[in-house]
Amino acid sequence: MSDVKQIQNESEIVVKPVAARIGAEISGVNLSGNLDANTVKSIRDALLKHKVIFFKNQNHLDDKEQEAFARLLGNPVVHPTVPVKNGSNYILELNSDHGGRANSWHTDVTFEAAYPKFSILRGVVIPEVGGDTVWANTATAYENLPAELRSLADQLWALHSNDYDYAAKRSEISSESVNHYNNVFTSTLYETEHPVVHVHPETFERHLLLGHFVKKFIGLSSSDSYQLFSVLQEHVTQLENTVRWRWSTGDVVIWDNRATQHYAVNDYGDAQRVVRRITIDGDVPVSLDERRSITKTKVRSAQ
Ligand SMILES: [Fe+2]
Repeated sequence: MSDVKQIQNESEIVVKPVAARIGAEISGVNLSGNLDANTVKSIRDALLKHKVIFFKNQNHLDDKEQEAFARLLGNPVVHPTVPVKNGSNYILELNSDHGGRANSWHTDVTFEAAYPKFSILRGVVIPEVGGDTVWANTATAYENLPAELRSLADQLWALHSNDYDYAAKRSEISSESVNHYNNVFTSTLYETEHPVVHVHPETFERHLLLGHFVKKFIGLSSSDSYQLFSVLQEHVTQLENTVRWRWSTGDVVIWDNRATQHYAVNDYGDAQRVVRRITIDGDVPVSLDERRSITKTKVRSAQ
């Protein structure tokens, strides 16, 4: 009986690319903690291939069922500094009313050495217009670099920290709740060295590992780092390399955090936007010459 169910579930899944280089919409599945192994494998395969996958109409999910589904993709892991949502085990709630507007390009939690492999985001309150998210493919970004820049990137390492310059990268007016969120976010300070090019442990593709947690490149001055960062980062975020998602309540989006950067567009003014995220435990990145990322600093900050 269970064999029949597995075959039926698997055959119902339809994977349809949304953009040429990244992103696919998956239909024919109701996400839950009870999916059979073949369905989970199909989802996982699509995720590794397309790097971000979109599921519409998952309004049946609550926090508990989102957690149950997340466990099918690996071990959920809590954010290192931001407390989980009340009553949940792993959920990070990003609420626009409390500073949760991630409108700069980043890969989640790269200030840790073993940062999450997958992020699973559920749309809970979505503005009538605006609040889209954009993802970029960091493998095609690497592939499309001119050979000279590629060989420079191959040798570079970057220092990632959660103590990045919020004021320089976020234009919104600071309110008390935003400041509070930022203080919580940096309650423990991390500094981690990652290779700028890492080899994906499952697809073996090479990826650029950059984003807004980069403070500087090892061995370069702040000024040189800033300019070189802009050059490389622009190759990641060029529009040909991205996919943009218009959210509806009940959408679930999963991305391979080792293969992407993302940006939450902050164009919805005073409207509220609430999304809930679960991250899955990842591995320590490995460079082309097989050195592993390392956390150099992890200290509670005096606040
Ligand atoms: Fe994020």
